[in-house]
Amino acid sequence: MDVLGINGSPHSDGNTAYALRYALDRLEEAGLSTEYVALGEKTLFPCRGCFACREGDCVHDDDMAQILRLMRAAGCILLASPVYMGLVTGQMKTMMDRSVAVRVRGFQLSGRLGAGIACGGFRNGGQELTLQCMHTFFLQQDMSAVADGPGFSHSGATIVGAADADEIGLQTIRNLTMKIAGIFGNRRAIPNDQPGGTALR
Ligand SMILES: Cc1cc2nc3c(=O)[nH]c(=O)nc-3n(C[C@H](O)[C@H](O)[C@H](O)COP(=O)(O)O)c2cc1C
Repeated sequence: MDVLGINGSPHSDGNTAYALRYALDRLEEAGLSTEYVALGEKTLFPCRGCFACREGDCVHDDDMAQILRLMRAAGCILLASPVYMGLVTGQMKTMMDRSVAVRVRGFQLSGRLGAGIACGGFRNGGQELTLQCMHTFFLQQDMSAVADGPGFSHSGATIVGAADADEIGLQTIRNLTMKIAGIFGNRRAIPNDQPGGTALR
């Protein structure tokens, strides 16, 4: 799979779902294969910090193993989160923390692309810090963060208010998806030496 979209909203049909599905539709139009995961529809328990994942399976028996399989199989991970108190949602942060399991066992997401969409209720509501939070996660996983490229070239895509009515926000999403598709077009997908799929180098 080329791009895995992960929605960090508790709402299945909210602004973040709209924005992420809009992005994945544009990527499909560009010829990339995509999958969509909604964290609000998954059971994810918080990381306990026990590092059992260094030696074997996580102590939690929930949906994170399936999400990690999808992440390893993706060439690009596109995170989309509502802004909650200026940052990503708890659901998104829990996913980030739990993904330490693939970091401590050989950086299994190394070389993937990462990009972000932040949806806030207000202008300057924390969208940029939310994107930076995602970028920091990508860097911790030895991934490469992608911005929205020529046009506006800021930190990714941002939505203010209702996603379907935010024309400038939707433009930032189109720019971001064009940037991702362009990188895929210019790079060769090669087998990753870690289990689970291919990485872009
Ligand atoms: C607990 C909570 C905290 C929020 N904090 C912010 C915030 O700091 N900045 C902002 O712009 N919007 C904030 N919002 C508004 C949401 O980010 C906004 O409504 C978003 O579009 C919701 O996305 P969704 O429909 O996908 O759930 C907050 C909403 C909730 C429920």
